[in-house]
Amino acid sequence: MEASFLTSSAKLNQCPPETVPEIAFVGRSNVGKSSLINMLVERKGLAKTSATPGKTQLINHFVIENKWHLVDLPGYGYARVSKKDRGKFKGMIYNFLEKRTSLYNTFVLVDSRHDPQKLDLDFINWLGERGLPFSIVFTKSDKMKPLALERNVETYKAKLLESWDEIPPIFITSSEKADGRDELLDYIQQMLD
Ligand code: GTP
Ligand code: MG
Repeated sequence: MEASFLTSSAKLNQCPPETVPEIAFVGRSNVGKSSLINMLVERKGLAKTSATPGKTQLINHFVIENKWHLVDLPGYGYARVSKKDRGKFKGMIYNFLEKRTSLYNTFVLVDSRHDPQKLDLDFINWLGERGLPFSIVFTKSDKMKPLALERNVETYKAKLLESWDEIPPIFITSSEKADGRDELLDYIQQMLD
């Protein structure tokens, strides 16, 4: 898959022109956004990853197959980033998702190891209330036993159904094992067609 870095932007108005479809990846710091992007395009170092949360601090655009953009966003909710910076990232992310007209879909990443977290649910509800198209991606599935993984996914679905009549598409992925890659790429392709 042809993939190259395009540009990093600190604000919406610095982003590239809205000429091609875009797919964004969001989620709390360290959930595995950048790793997932690298796994999808099979290019290890394309998006910068780190064991330390807070690695991605700008809106990063990548060009895929000369046709569409992947967008790697900073994580939300990292406690060790100053309150001021946390607000800044949040503003950056929300502004981008709300105003970017070329955005086709947002993948919200959640760590498959945890019970539903308020921070993620608040974010999902924010997207839902605005009618912004999104899907949920469980990450790091290689760290879970199959039964426990299934239980966590079911718990998540049940939690979402408390607030919403319908739930968005859900994907289970491991960037270590490339699990979920075909499903995600097929889904993206469908949206682009
Ligand atoms: P920020 O840019 O800080 O918001 O983080 P991010 O969401 O981009 O996370 P990143 O991709 O940098 O990954 C964070 C850490 O999790 C790194 O140490 C990765 O190696 C690890 N990681 C990411 N995905 C997986 C996965 O599927 N399996 C395992 N075992 N580790 C993963
Ligand atoms: Mg990152």
